[in-house]
Amino acid sequence: MLSFKLSALVPLLAAIALADSYGSPPNKTLGPNADGKYEISAEGIRGYFIPYGASITNLFINDTHGVERDIVLGFDNATHYSEDKFHPHLGGVPGRYANRIKNSTFTIDGVDYHITPNENNNNDTLHGGPDGWDWRNFTVVSHTTDSITFSIVDPDGKEGFPGEVVSYITYTMTPNTWGFKMIALSTTKKTPIMLSSHTYWNLDGFQNPETPTALNHTLHMPYSGQRISTDGILIPDGIILPNLQYSVNDFWSSPKQLGANFSAPEIHGNCGTNCTGYDTCYIVNRDQNGPFDWRTSGPVATLSSPWSGIQVDIFSDQEAFQVYSCGGQNGTLPIKSTQGLDSRPRVVEQYGCIVMEVEDWIDAINRPEWQREKRNIFGPDDPPYVLEAQYKFSVKKSS
Ligand SMILES: *[C@@H]1O[C@H](CO)[C@@H](O)[C@H](O)[C@H]1NC(C)=O
Ligand SMILES: *[C@@H]1O[C@H](CO)[C@@H](O)[C@H](O)[C@H]1NC(C)=O
Ligand SMILES: *[C@@H]1O[C@H](CO)[C@@H](O)[C@H](O)[C@H]1NC(C)=O
Ligand SMILES: *[C@@H]1O[C@H](CO)[C@@H](O)[C@H](O)[C@H]1NC(C)=O
Ligand SMILES: *[C@@H]1O[C@H](CO)[C@@H](O)[C@H](O)[C@H]1NC(C)=O
Ligand SMILES: *[C@@H]1O[C@H](CO)[C@@H](O)[C@H](O)[C@H]1NC(C)=O
Ligand SMILES: *[C@@H]1O[C@H](CO)[C@@H](O)[C@H](O)[C@H]1NC(C)=O
Ligand SMILES: *[C@@H]1O[C@H](CO)[C@@H](O)[C@H](O)[C@H]1NC(C)=O
Ligand SMILES: *[C@@H]1O[C@H](CO)[C@@H](O)[C@H](O)[C@H]1NC(C)=O
Ligand SMILES: *[C@@H]1O[C@H](CO)[C@@H](O)[C@H](O)[C@H]1NC(C)=O
Repeated sequence: MLSFKLSALVPLLAAIALADSYGSPPNKTLGPNADGKYEISAEGIRGYFIPYGASITNLFINDTHGVERDIVLGFDNATHYSEDKFHPHLGGVPGRYANRIKNSTFTIDGVDYHITPNENNNNDTLHGGPDGWDWRNFTVVSHTTDSITFSIVDPDGKEGFPGEVVSYITYTMTPNTWGFKMIALSTTKKTPIMLSSHTYWNLDGFQNPETPTALNHTLHMPYSGQRISTDGILIPDGIILPNLQYSVNDFWSSPKQLGANFSAPEIHGNCGTNCTGYDTCYIVNRDQNGPFDWRTSGPVATLSSPWSGIQVDIFSDQEAFQVYSCGGQNGTLPIKSTQGLDSRPRVVEQYGCIVMEVEDWIDAINRPEWQREKRNIFGPDDPPYVLEAQYKFSVKKSS
């Protein structure tokens, strides 16, 4: 009885701790705007968030000419997220286990678990299942002018996962920086946990008159000389591949435009059967450099656009980095009223965006030989799951 009561207190204590240690004191006058969105801001940066999936909906940065650009995908109002039945996880937190789980099964302590499939004719589970976290409303725990914390309680057995998970997602703005901390507590049974932020970027706000795509954005992943091999439906097959220098997956040896290798034959099928581009989990290798502080020891990735001059340096404590170049977009998903040009369709064209996800090695729960169970499986006696990241923005001086 006593241990049950203590575990029931954990979420409350965590909420109090989070509310105390992030941002300014709660402001009773704050709340959602007319579109149902919660604003947080700091010098040079302003973002909007919604309880649905604990999602970011807008992120405003002034470009090289001082013009505000809204550089993430989303919808114009909070209500539309629950109405749209096909959204591609716009800016939300995939959970309780991001990316794909092979055959929708895994084994913990000799027990086989079968969870709810939702992709490839029910061959696998993507982003936590058909009712994963980014299809649900979180609760707003705290909201100040520069910080917001969301919480979710994911019950034992939901989508077939064992045990209850309680999670807190805190987004904080500091000058020119969007930071987040994701905490998840497994309160009753050992269960897989992997979170991320599934944000779609176009650093031109879809307003570059010469191109509606992100193929001219330059990407650098200085620690990512390896990637996780997948089969035709993007399920890891256990093999770790080298990103040979000058190959299409080489973003480590020097910065490269996303479209730089689109005339190379190997780019076809590089993101699954019949898929051209990237939908790839790159590994982040930093240990050889000795002890490091993820906040200061260099970004795991840098993305910049020559047109807007906007650059984002991504710092994270995570050891993998998924890149998706939006090859699945086909001109049907709308952009927001804050984005785009009147002179062309207000939709996301193929390759119009890039998703970048800080996370752990995908489907590691089905790859015991990778020896990553301490970062993928969490029980009530383990430390909590924690993910931290900072997205630092800068702007190239206009010439
Ligand atoms: C962009 O610049 C304008 C004019 O200085 C300012 O009012 C606005 O707050 C800036 N936007 C952001 C996101 O910092
Ligand atoms: C909400 O936004 C969607 C598109 O993002 C739009 O279709 C819908 O009309 C909007 N609804 C309201 C009430 O503004
Ligand atoms: C896939 O899962 C099913 C049960 O959901 C099981 O019967 C089957 O053996 C599994 N296949 C593989 C290849 O693991
Ligand atoms: C998925 O599973 C079905 C049968 O369970 C199989 O026929 C099919 O080839 C599998 N793969 C894909 C990509 O649908
Ligand atoms: C989320 O909350 C909004 C506002 O209360 C509601 O309209 C919507 O139906 C909810 N969506 C889900 C998926 O529960
Ligand atoms: C509270 O909100 C008001 C109105 O938006 C704002 O003027 C004030 O600075 C906020 N105070 C704090 C402590 O966030
Ligand atoms: C895209 O990049 C190429 C190569 O650097 C350059 O020639 C072209 O002008 C750029 N286009 C746009 C729209 O920025
Ligand atoms: C990919 O693009 C880079 C930069 O332009 C180039 O150095 C490299 O040779 C290209 N690789 C292939 C396989 O085309
Ligand atoms: C891949 O494309 C080829 C040629 O268009 C087509 O015949 C085939 O069915 C496609 N395969 C899948 C799995 O979509
Ligand atoms: C475009 O993509 C959407 C979402 O994946 C899909 O439902 C739709 O059928 C596609 N449309 C075309 C014309 O391919």
